[in-house]
Amino acid sequence: PEPGWTVEADAVVVGSGIAGLTAALELRTRVPRVLLVTKDILASGSTVWAQGGIAAALDPSDSPSAHLQDTLVAGAGLCDPRAVEVLVTEGPARVRELVTRGAVFDTASDGSISLTREGGHHADRIAHAGGDATGAEISRALVAQIEAVREDPGIEVIEHALVLDVLTGPPGPDGTPGHACGVTLHVIGEGQRDGVGAALGRAVVLATGGIGQVYRSSTNPSQATGDGIAAALRAGATLGDVEFVQFHPTVLWLGSGVKGQLTLVSEAVRGEGALLLDTDGVRFMPDVHPMAELAPRDVVAHAIVRRMKETGSDHVWLDARHLGDDFLRGRFPTINERLLEHGIDLTTDLVPVAPAQHYHSGGVVTDLVGRTSLPGLYAVGEVACTGVHGANRLASNSLLEGLVFATRAARHIAEQVHQGALPPLAPVQRPGDEALVAAASRARVQRIASDGPGPLRSGDGLRRAADLLAAVPTDAHRRTDEGRLLAVPQVAEWETTNVHQVATVLTDAALVREESRGGHARSDFPDTEKAWQVRLELSLDADGTL
Ligand code: SIN
Repeated sequence: PEPGWTVEADAVVVGSGIAGLTAALELRTRVPRVLLVTKDILASGSTVWAQGGIAAALDPSDSPSAHLQDTLVAGAGLCDPRAVEVLVTEGPARVRELVTRGAVFDTASDGSISLTREGGHHADRIAHAGGDATGAEISRALVAQIEAVREDPGIEVIEHALVLDVLTGPPGPDGTPGHACGVTLHVIGEGQRDGVGAALGRAVVLATGGIGQVYRSSTNPSQATGDGIAAALRAGATLGDVEFVQFHPTVLWLGSGVKGQLTLVSEAVRGEGALLLDTDGVRFMPDVHPMAELAPRDVVAHAIVRRMKETGSDHVWLDARHLGDDFLRGRFPTINERLLEHGIDLTTDLVPVAPAQHYHSGGVVTDLVGRTSLPGLYAVGEVACTGVHGANRLASNSLLEGLVFATRAARHIAEQVHQGALPPLAPVQRPGDEALVAAASRARVQRIASDGPGPLRSGDGLRRAADLLAAVPTDAHRRTDEGRLLAVPQVAEWETTNVHQVATVLTDAALVREESRGGHARSDFPDTEKAWQVRLELSLDADGTL
């Protein structure tokens, strides 16, 4: 759509989770003008829902190299060790900086940050806040810092702004995509910035989070519709590790009819000693992995799915009753409260849980400073594929990744701006014949994605999903023969278009990878193959094919 207004900045940051807020705060002190746009209010998105914590080798008995080792093992052979090295060595300093920015972590009696353990970690290295409300506390602290500078002419915040497309300059002579020079936005708001507009910048930082709403149910909030990854793909950026989707093992199970955002029961509950039992009351994880309930997340999720099949059940039980009333209420107040809303008492009841979509390990391929394949376009946080997660993200490495790589990207952009290496460019408008999927198709797409590239995949299931996705009409903005518009493009249509594009790319990538590894498990290729120890990268050709 044609932008009705334009705003200019040195850097445009899209998204206000830990990665977007950190990038904006770092950039504000380094370049003259920053624009931070977010789809909802500042304090929304996935970060605020993060329960367990943020991983970093903060204890003297722990080390970045031990953290590196656990991350590589969880990533099942596909992590980029250089990226992991950056994550684990810079992580502790970045977490301490969060404290100076006002985040209050839980502390031990000696005043040091309390650390717990989660799946795949061989040391206590998860810092947490408010017991089990870590993301909410980090978001509160960072949003407060942004609010404190709201009046500063060096930063502008636009809320309720859905990113539509990445704007690019003229393509190269060989047809390579042009430099990113801004984004189009749809703002639902009051004031001067309303409707479709353009935000132009020397650099664009995508920090748009995950893809949970591609699935029928997920721990992700409603905003997680894959907007950044889809916009990057359309602009010509390279995506990687897209097939690796993480299903969290212990999501509250309330029946197959319950859809949308589901309640997470943090891995930290198992970290403190809770056990998994099948519906016959039998503990099964010790037979699966030496780390039992604290094995890497993909191992636990797949073991649960298998056990559910064996017992003919649609859930297993999480048993925390032996941890004691006082401890559980003090350590997990948020989870306790959410469970009580459903009549379940963590201190006296078994909690019904089943795996559900939680995190996208892949995303827009970046280097170690967040640069994508498109000059001027950066990606940080869940939308990025930095290489730190490989085939399966280690628990509580996601907040850390957002923090570490957003800081790096912001510092790099500032250097580039000061060196004149990122000149402002006029965007080349593209023809307006892009796909548009009607909002009414969203449930259908979600059903197809959940049945196809779900926790356990098969070639037949993926081929069926690919065919069904190809049959979803993508011409909702066309007129009927009588001249009636099939759908007026609004937020719901653009989001559904993104959901459909991400589901399609995900299905295609899952079909290509003929093995099982990390978050990608195929019944027709159950083994991990040495020959497949490679990252699958994909992008769109000039004619729009993958
Ligand atoms: C959890 O609290 O279990 C989630 C932590 C994570 O996703 O890393």
